[in-house]
Amino acid sequence: MGIAPGAVLDSPARAAYLTTMKLTVNGREREVTPDPVESLADTLRARLHLGGTKVACGRGECGSCTVLLDGRAVYACLTITRACEGAAVTTIEGLAPPGELHPVQRAFIEQDAVQCGYCTPGQVMAAVALLAAEPAPDEPAIRRAMSGNLCRCGTYPRIAAAIRSVAGRGGGTGA
Ligand code: FES
Ligand code: FES
Repeated sequence: MGIAPGAVLDSPARAAYLTTMKLTVNGREREVTPDPVESLADTLRARLHLGGTKVACGRGECGSCTVLLDGRAVYACLTITRACEGAAVTTIEGLAPPGELHPVQRAFIEQDAVQCGYCTPGQVMAAVALLAAEPAPDEPAIRRAMSGNLCRCGTYPRIAAAIRSVAGRGGGTGA
């Protein structure tokens, strides 16, 4: 069953789509009932109360909503929750056990790579994905991989320094 683009959903059609689905978030299977085109960012924040995933632009331009989907960095504001069934979602809350820090989080603190902090969860998630794919990236690779994550405070040099400080030391894996 498909819905024509732009179609207004009448109640029976809408109800047919509002089935409960399973979503694995931070290693835990959750049941959610998202709207058909609900974004993963909205599901995480509004339904699962995982507010660490930030939304700024809401249209795939800033990277503040970056999460891992099967280990790959994605913009949660552009990801449809219903397309994530069976995939593993990792948010900033799931990078390390409660009360502990992931090596990349620690590196951001040590390198003072945070000003207002709004972009930081997305920056950390993008860095973790980069280090998982490329454990010892050089400067151009860091700039390329992080180019989809904007920081209005301009903390880019310190963010790069934080990534360099954990490069080659397992920064792309869990704590
Ligand atoms: S909030 Fe998703 S890319 Fe800006
Ligand atoms: S630290 Fe403020 S937007 Fe990046």
